[in-house]
Amino acid sequence: MSYISMNLVTMFYLIASVCFIQALKGLSSPSTARTGNAFGMCGMAIATITTVALIFKLQAQAATTGGLGFSLVLLGVVVGGGIGAFAAKKVEMTKMPELVAAMHSLIGLAAVCIAVAVVAEPWVFQITTPGVALPFGNRLELFIGTFVGAVTFSGSVIAFGKLSGKYKFRLFQGAPVSFPGQHMLNLGIAIALIALGLVFCFAPGVEPAWTPFIIMAVLAFLLGVLIIIPIGGADMPVVVSMLNSYSGWAAAGIGFSLNNSMLIIAGSLVGSSGAILSYIMCKAMNRSFFNVILGGFGGDPAAAAAGGAQEQRPVKSGSADDAAFIMSNAETVIIVPGYGLAVARAQHSLKELVEKLTHKGVIVKYAIHPVAGRMPGHMNVLLAEAEVPYDQVFEMEDINGEFGQTDVVLVLGANDVVNPAAKDPKSPIAGMPILEAYKAKSIIVNKRSMASGYAGLDNDLFYQANTMMVFGDAKKVIEAMVKAVD
Ligand code: TAP
Repeated sequence: MSYISMNLVTMFYLIASVCFIQALKGLSSPSTARTGNAFGMCGMAIATITTVALIFKLQAQAATTGGLGFSLVLLGVVVGGGIGAFAAKKVEMTKMPELVAAMHSLIGLAAVCIAVAVVAEPWVFQITTPGVALPFGNRLELFIGTFVGAVTFSGSVIAFGKLSGKYKFRLFQGAPVSFPGQHMLNLGIAIALIALGLVFCFAPGVEPAWTPFIIMAVLAFLLGVLIIIPIGGADMPVVVSMLNSYSGWAAAGIGFSLNNSMLIIAGSLVGSSGAILSYIMCKAMNRSFFNVILGGFGGDPAAAAAGGAQEQRPVKSGSADDAAFIMSNAETVIIVPGYGLAVARAQHSLKELVEKLTHKGVIVKYAIHPVAGRMPGHMNVLLAEAEVPYDQVFEMEDINGEFGQTDVVLVLGANDVVNPAAKDPKSPIAGMPILEAYKAKSIIVNKRSMASGYAGLDNDLFYQANTMMVFGDAKKVIEAMVKAVD
């Protein structure tokens, strides 16, 4: 029986890596995102099949465990793949950050497990031969890979709990958890980790120095919990993206140890793209990365109360029919979708409304804020799902100049991303770039109540003389608008 050659393995890993690069490139624009996803799936399929073929070969060559190892690998692929496919199919769009956090925790754990296996039997991975000690470079990579993997695992578990908001456990609550001396404790652990790393890497003899390695793993798991608990649940999407970056670096670190070019490339892609995404999200919220990481905003009731005291001011409200009448008679309409539209799953009704208005000769555009919703690209995904043509969808910097000349802005389940308070230097969201809906001739806002959005702030836009509130669930309201336009 002939087995896969190492040259073929290298070639397939290279093809998989190219697919991953193409996947990232495709995902950078809504119009190419589907192709990007297809590349990602192909890359992952090639990588998995090649790895299984390689394990089969190594297993047969070693012939020590009677094939049980290979059966376990196949079982893992079937069970893991099945759970993954089921979870991805079942998950609601608004719950996507939770699913991503859960996946990251598994990547972190996988990195730890692989590192432990390599430290225990490096010759199985063809790093050394039996009786020869692990070289210094490999020890360092494995130590760092295990540390990053462990932090990613426990941090992602806490992030998952905070995002789901379903569990009573104190650490899984959205509110930040802090205690005196927390930062000093983190610093102490970081110093201890460096010392343990030195002991592990410079330990003499062939046997690995398990004691510092195991203490490091335990401390890293603890550190993952400690650095995530002080962060408010509302900041979790940024944290998830940061943990995504960590999981990529953990995979790349293990890739160096295993001399696996595909793991190094894929891990680096995930690591750097996660870091860039965290930066973009922080920028779009006008927050420093350290401000997010050290906790506070969003989950801090004091901050919300300071800026968010709800005043009893009069607002003008109208019906869906009134709104439909105003829009039918406008020349230009800009639609601002937000988190509420996603919760109401009203994207299909919205597309129908826009088609009817367009048919009447109204020019309709969608304006997308980079952090509208609860995850990067949330609104783009929502509109793509309803097959809204991409040429109607505009990013904030491309459409902000048009609000001043627009007849009607229809704000659907959005709040913070159109809050003019961002222009006030004293506001907690001061400096956050917003969609300048307040400049339009008429503004129609749909939401269920006068409740605040994610940042917990009152919104002056709702009280403007040219604003009409249409209260109700976005789906019901839009469906009523569709009927009225007819
Ligand atoms: P929000 O400011 O959270 O406002 C959403 C509004 O939707 C709420 O005021 C809510 O008011 C309304 N709503 C909820 N369910 C609704 C329904 N069924 N029908 C109609 N309206 C409904 O959302 P946004 O304007 O999209 O801003 C996003 C916020 O999330 C920003 O502050 C952003 O910084 C933050 N954030 C986003 C991200 C990413 S990457 N997207 C990451 C971290 C943080 P009612 O309860 O009165 O209906």
